[in-house]
Amino acid sequence: MARLQGKIGIVTGGGSGIGAATVRRFRREGARVVIADVDFAAAQAVAAEPGGPAVAEVIDVREEAAWQTLVATTERRFGGLHILVNNAGIVGDMASQDPERLSLEEWRRIAAVDTESVFLGCKTAIPAIARSGGGSIVNISSIAALRPTPALAGYGAAKAGVRQLTQSVALHCAQKKLGIRCNSVHPGIVNTPMFEAAFSAEERMRRTEAVPLGRLGEPDDIADAILFLASDEARYITGAKLIVDGGIVMD
Ligand SMILES: NC(=O)c1ccc[n+]([C@@H]2O[C@H](COP(=O)([O-])OP(=O)(O)OC[C@H]3O[C@@H](n4cnc5c(N)ncnc54)[C@H](O)[C@@H]3O)[C@@H](O)[C@H]2O)c1
Repeated sequence: MARLQGKIGIVTGGGSGIGAATVRRFRREGARVVIADVDFAAAQAVAAEPGGPAVAEVIDVREEAAWQTLVATTERRFGGLHILVNNAGIVGDMASQDPERLSLEEWRRIAAVDTESVFLGCKTAIPAIARSGGGSIVNISSIAALRPTPALAGYGAAKAGVRQLTQSVALHCAQKKLGIRCNSVHPGIVNTPMFEAAFSAEERMRRTEAVPLGRLGEPDDIADAILFLASDEARYITGAKLIVDGGIVMD
């Protein structure tokens, strides 16, 4: 049987990179998927690929009202909700993100997209997933949450917030016996538009050479980890962090 047969999921940032790879995995494994992205054209392009039922929805994950609309639309269209992947994110301004030069405005922009959105997504989806009999929330953090990031102070702090929030959500849902698991995935360096935009070609080469497994991560490497945590194979795993980084952190 397909690993997500009968499941209904939302993937934010599903129009690109890790999110798009996750949508493809989910559809292949029998899920019906809502691809939610601020870039509607990108989400539509992924939805138009062959595969199981999928629909594109536009959302800015910073907006609480947009989350309420998204979850209500998903329940109406597909009849429930079992899986939420909080994947949409930005790295922010790479040139001046050290603690002295990072502007308050940029700090707040990164926190809104990378951390507040995860809070809003969990808050809105928990009752819906509970109504559907339980499920799984997967929050995409980063290895930047686990190590000091002086050149990316805003991003590192935002992703560390995702890790802590994941544990609070996991324990809350367990204590309320909602049947909802919540885990975080921590990608290392992944070959996506975000990585391309973030570093020069020389810096990308240097970082790739430093990966113990000797290559960059591919979106599918991360999507497979997300699929596992979303599926019932991970039924006894909650509050965990899954590092998918080719051996950089080894924590
Ligand atoms: N690429 C990496 O090396 C790497 C490493 C660690 C963690 N991550 C995390 O993985 C996740 C996916 O990253 P990616 O590399 O696939 O990035 P990406 O830039 O390829 O895709 C991000 C997607 O999120 C969407 N998005 C951005 N802001 C949004 C908003 N406000 N509302 C809705 N959608 C929005 C974009 O339109 C895009 O489709 C992010 O949370 C990122 O921080 C990436």
